[in-house]
Amino acid sequence: MDDTTGEITPTILVHGGAWAMPDETELAETNVGGVKAAVKVGYEVLVNGGSAVDAVESAVRCLEDNPVFNAGHGSVLNSLKEVEMDAVIMEGDHLNAGAVACVQNIANPDSLARLVMDKTDHVLLVGQGANMFATEMGVPSVPMETLVTPNAVKRREEMKTYNQAIKKQYEIRKIDEAVPVQTGHDTVGAVALDSKGNVAFATSTGGINAKRPGRVGDSPLIGSGGYCDNRVGAVSTTGHGEAIMKVIQHKKHLIKLYST
Ligand code: GLY
Repeated sequence: MDDTTGEITPTILVHGGAWAMPDETELAETNVGGVKAAVKVGYEVLVNGGSAVDAVESAVRCLEDNPVFNAGHGSVLNSLKEVEMDAVIMEGDHLNAGAVACVQNIANPDSLARLVMDKTDHVLLVGQGANMFATEMGVPSVPMETLVTPNAVKRREEMKTYNQAIKKQYEIRKIDEAVPVQTGHDTVGAVALDSKGNVAFATSTGGINAKRPGRVGDSPLIGSGGYCDNRVGAVSTTGHGEAIMKVIQHKKHLIKLYST
């Protein structure tokens, strides 16, 4: 907020996933460039009077369309070498939210999550039900191959099991230990504040390489994949889904324990 005029400055923050950015210039440039492009798209929405929820949806769509990121086009492959995606969106005024999990053949899962929020009485639709809803809403079904990148195929070949993928992506090393180049990252997201003071967040992911079919991570779960409330703020998370879900439950337990 501007202290002199009392006006709220529209703001957007975007992330392209948790990982140690490799030194390879080209890779770093495409990642940073992709995040900047998404910021620009979301910011345009805000300065043209759009809502925070419109801005985060537009920014995340931009990241889903960019094959560099693990979401939409560019998603990692599961153990069957298929793409299954999770996404969520939420607005912080009335706490409306929508999410999809294990959805296939959709170019922009976060926009489908938005439709769940706007057009249903539910918060989360999964698998076949989510795809049936997409058809009902006129969202085009795209061939899976159009979402698969050569990099995703390469990563799946390199990391044959989920455990290998976790170890490679999230292993904690001592600060001075030689860090092998990470081969990928997970999840994209955005948070925004619009000129009316409303906040929103969106998160979208292909999940984690070689995951079991039907595995749902933290991303589509309200409170794990992110949260927002006009009275508090907004957050979009990224990282190892199973670990995040456990820690979030633990924190909720502690809050309850210390507030009773
Ligand atoms: N945070 C993404 C996932 O674990 O699926």
